[in-house]
Amino acid sequence: MSEQEVKKYSMAEVREKADAKEPWIVINDSVYNVKEFLNDHPGGEEVLLEQAGKDSTEEFEDVGHSSDAREIMAKYKIGELIDEDKKHNKKPSSHPKSASSDESPDNFSIWKSWLLPLTLGVLAIFVYRYFIAS
Ligand code: HEM
Repeated sequence: MSEQEVKKYSMAEVREKADAKEPWIVINDSVYNVKEFLNDHPGGEEVLLEQAGKDSTEEFEDVGHSSDAREIMAKYKIGELIDEDKKHNKKPSSHPKSASSDESPDNFSIWKSWLLPLTLGVLAIFVYRYFIAS
């Protein structure tokens, strides 16, 4: 198996880890075990423990963590949320918007789109030739 396997966890599993021994935190659909980071977190261990077992994406982003912080967190990543529990990376393309944009608009609507300008154009030519240019 050459590719690194990403472990998948459900939000329920993460919630079970709300205890202080193995605090798991979800940020941007990734699951982190921050146990080893508690003492090193510049923001203090309390905030991490408070967030244990939760999706703390908002809190994490609100702080405006640096790119350094984002590099550090990669070390503590243990997996990702299962697709059903994902909030942030949901692919909108799984349900393509088909309601408003029909793939094959009926011929009449194509006609309509240039019939009016054409009619106005022809009318303008007639008006010019018979009323103005004469
Ligand atoms: C694995 C996840 C996390 C990592 C690796 C991490 C890392 C860091 C780092 C490196 C800093 C220093 C400033 C910076 O470089 O941006 C920081 C600051 C801070 N972090 Fe985190 N953090 C994590 C999760 C969280 C969470 C979930 C919260 C929850 C609210 C949080 C709250 C804070 C706060 C409040 C500060 C600011 C401390 C200050 O400016 O005095 N962090 N964090």
